[in-house]
Amino acid sequence: MQKILDLISEEMKKAFAEAGYDAGLGRVTLSNRPDLCEYQCNGAMAGAKKYHKAPLMIAQEVAEKLQENAVLSEVCAVAPGFLNMKVKESFVRDYLREMSGAEKFGFQTPESKKMIIDYGGPNVAKPLHVGHLRSGIIGESIKRICRYAGHEVIGDIHLGDWGLQMGLIITELQKRQPDLIYFDDSYEGEYPKDAPFTISELEEIYPAASAKSKEDEAYKADAMDATYKLQSGVRGYRALWDHIIAVSVADLKKNYANLNVEFDLWKGESDVHDIIPGMVEAMKKGGYAYESDGALVVDVKEETDTKEVPPCMILKSDGASLYNTTDLATIMDRMENFHPDKLIYLTDKRQDLYFEQVFRCAKKTKLVNEDTELVHIGFGTMNGRDGKPFKTREGGVMRLENLIREINEEMIRKIRENAETKGYEIDMEQAVETAKIVGLAAIKYGDLSNQASKDYIFDMDRFTSFEGDTGPYILYTIVRIKSILAKYEEQDGDLTGVVIDEAVNGSEKSLMLELAKYNAMIETACEEIAPHKICAYIYDLANAFNHFYHETKILTEESGQKKAGWIALLALTKDVLETCIDLLGFSAPERM
Ligand code: ARG
Repeated sequence: MQKILDLISEEMKKAFAEAGYDAGLGRVTLSNRPDLCEYQCNGAMAGAKKYHKAPLMIAQEVAEKLQENAVLSEVCAVAPGFLNMKVKESFVRDYLREMSGAEKFGFQTPESKKMIIDYGGPNVAKPLHVGHLRSGIIGESIKRICRYAGHEVIGDIHLGDWGLQMGLIITELQKRQPDLIYFDDSYEGEYPKDAPFTISELEEIYPAASAKSKEDEAYKADAMDATYKLQSGVRGYRALWDHIIAVSVADLKKNYANLNVEFDLWKGESDVHDIIPGMVEAMKKGGYAYESDGALVVDVKEETDTKEVPPCMILKSDGASLYNTTDLATIMDRMENFHPDKLIYLTDKRQDLYFEQVFRCAKKTKLVNEDTELVHIGFGTMNGRDGKPFKTREGGVMRLENLIREINEEMIRKIRENAETKGYEIDMEQAVETAKIVGLAAIKYGDLSNQASKDYIFDMDRFTSFEGDTGPYILYTIVRIKSILAKYEEQDGDLTGVVIDEAVNGSEKSLMLELAKYNAMIETACEEIAPHKICAYIYDLANAFNHFYHETKILTEESGQKKAGWIALLALTKDVLETCIDLLGFSAPERM
């Protein structure tokens, strides 16, 4: 379906042409004075210069041509030369009827691209913290939006599973349990199936090892040696590593499932280990990589740079690979195995420069094609109320699990409170289930409603509120509509036969016009990779609906046709809201 603004603009363009002016002047926008009109066109002002004529005169001549029009009503020319207008109720009705019947509400899918989205990026054996939350939440939503828009999208978690952290864990394990069979070089048999540690032990081992290595040089040397042995394939170390990965991944899967975040690929840094030497060789042969202070680097600065962009380091002076090296090799691997048109990365914005270097290096060394799009979406920090990075009450790093638990507890409290004020009973078990669904919406909406690059304040009280620009408010609106639809079905029967009618009052028309913006909004959200645009839209839509709802007695309406028309409008509103929250990565409960 065409976008409603384009249809309206077409009428205006025709009128400009009929009045003898350039049709291009007839571009219509949403009104910035909603008290006066619904849409406006400022073309007469632009035309004044070109035609040496007073803008008001041009506007009047154009308005004249639109007095009998199937789309526009109340077209007025106002000083100094604006064209203000409304749209006909019948036109909006027909537009929404078509939208209700169309696939994806009439959204026109762009040319399909193949994309890989790299998000989540947790490090094995380290607990997920709130920093990983944003990557997972935003990445999941972007994946869903791009997929909905018709692109072929692969989501890859890109585990941090290969660096010094692995050597640290192995070293600490060896200090604690030196007799483990994995450390016996002469052992040739099979290793046990079960890991010699649990996830909780692992999560305690890593920080302990990391702290020791910072204080004790010899310990650090051991860890580096263990990393080296692991990377060069020492059997026992590899077997231990397999255990670490298996235990961590099982735990990560559980955590991400709770967040409704899914990955198609569970690859990691380790997966490209074997292809690094070939890549490095090619970079040297191509004349891109050279030695500098013992390290191997590729220059990536460009003439137009206004800031210093240091060379991209490919290998350290001891020949070890770096974070860059695995990222570059992963790009090579992705290009060879998936042939993507576009790669999107989600990390903290502190990695902006890093990705700039990596992308430039990948282009320069021809790991990607000229036209492969490489995009880094650097997000801001989630802060506490004090404006500093979010911490636990004790000042430590907040574990994701605990954060979710706190939100859920608060949600249960709010759900009970709400039931109490409304005077109905709730079943405790159900409240717990509902709290999980609503809690997730609170976290995700709280995050996604901000432009990704901005920092935001995690405000438990505000995020979990049933009122205002929050996830629970959107869900509450959906639940309200569901309940009206259910009552209608009980009283009046089937929902399938209802059709949208002409608006009879202002709030109904506003709701209808809000719905009509859907396809343009999705197009922008996808093109700009901007989930926050969906949040802003559903907030406006929910407000428009609630306004209409408070002004209209829907279920007690006497005219069956009118009532059915409203019900059809509600059903469309609900479908649009539910589609949008699915794109954001959460869902609505049956009751709240
Ligand atoms: N593991 C990294 C971290 O915790 C994030 C990985 C992001 N993805 C990437 N391809 N570099 O900081």
